[in-house]
Amino acid sequence: MTVFPDRRLRRTRATPALRRLVAQTRLHPAQLVLPVFVKEGIDAPQPIASMPGVSQHPLDGLAAVVDEAARAGIGGVMLFGVPAGRDATGTGAVDPGGILNRAIRVAAEAAAGRLTVQADLCLDEFTDHGHCGVLDERGGVDNDATLEIYARMAVAQAEAGADVLGLSGMMDGQVAAVRQALDAAGHTGVVILAYAAKYASAYYGPFRDAVESTLTGDRRTYQLDPANAREGVEEALADIDEGADVVMVKPAGPYLDVLARVADVSSVPVWAYQVSGEYALIENAAAAGLVDRERAIGETLVGIRRAGAETILTYWAIEAAGWLRDGRDLA
Ligand code: PBG
Repeated sequence: MTVFPDRRLRRTRATPALRRLVAQTRLHPAQLVLPVFVKEGIDAPQPIASMPGVSQHPLDGLAAVVDEAARAGIGGVMLFGVPAGRDATGTGAVDPGGILNRAIRVAAEAAAGRLTVQADLCLDEFTDHGHCGVLDERGGVDNDATLEIYARMAVAQAEAGADVLGLSGMMDGQVAAVRQALDAAGHTGVVILAYAAKYASAYYGPFRDAVESTLTGDRRTYQLDPANAREGVEEALADIDEGADVVMVKPAGPYLDVLARVADVSSVPVWAYQVSGEYALIENAAAAGLVDRERAIGETLVGIRRAGAETILTYWAIEAAGWLRDGRDLA
């Protein structure tokens, strides 16, 4: 065994060129996906107060956003709809004329194959109670009744032209139900991204603002307990068994251990979602002069990638892609 003074671990850190040569983690713009909020009934972008730098977009501004994303070379856009009206069963989610399905059509046309169009498949933006599924008589979220609606929502999204469906509702059996419905409708090529290990997190706080969520209470009966890592792995394995093409861990930063464990055992690609709270914390800390904004962002992206995510959903996707194109070091 070579030891000091023959062995000097600082040798490969001495210059920028050496550090670049031996970097063990790299990120490419194609590995970034931009979440995009599309709001019904507005005619100009509306800044989201809790997420400095992020806006809700009108439907007729969406093509330009998609075009910018394509020119940045990122891998896709993940669309979220903010409807003008909501009801108990989230009718707007399955309606081809609903805001999200219309947005998918616009985005698919603008993308023209240059990047993937992905859509959030969940009811929380469409229900008046704000839960990810429909409620039973006692006010609980009814898993199996929700699956029937997810199945119809999936077909509507596929018909609108989505390449990838992001199943974020954390209902048991949702991957199998959606795969079966898609295949039965002839959409055998539509990719299922399972938000497999999605934790009940305070870090979704700013997002609630972004989609004008009506939720009171929490999602702890269906999203994972932050204390449980093994259960997150089990969720990912179950989703893979049901036919998930990609599995995701969410949030990213506080769950890097779960991400690493899922990456170790997954037979399909593993992604991570750097969520609204992770975004807002850094933006606010940087605005207060507490951290170097660009380095702090880069370090989180490298960390998420290093932990095992092949692709990252992040609100900084376009900006970070620009840094990567310029050949800048991320961290
Ligand atoms: C559910 C969904 C949520 C997010 C993405 N999809 C909210 C939730 O589960 O409470 C959060 C994303 C973020 O915080 O950036 N449709």
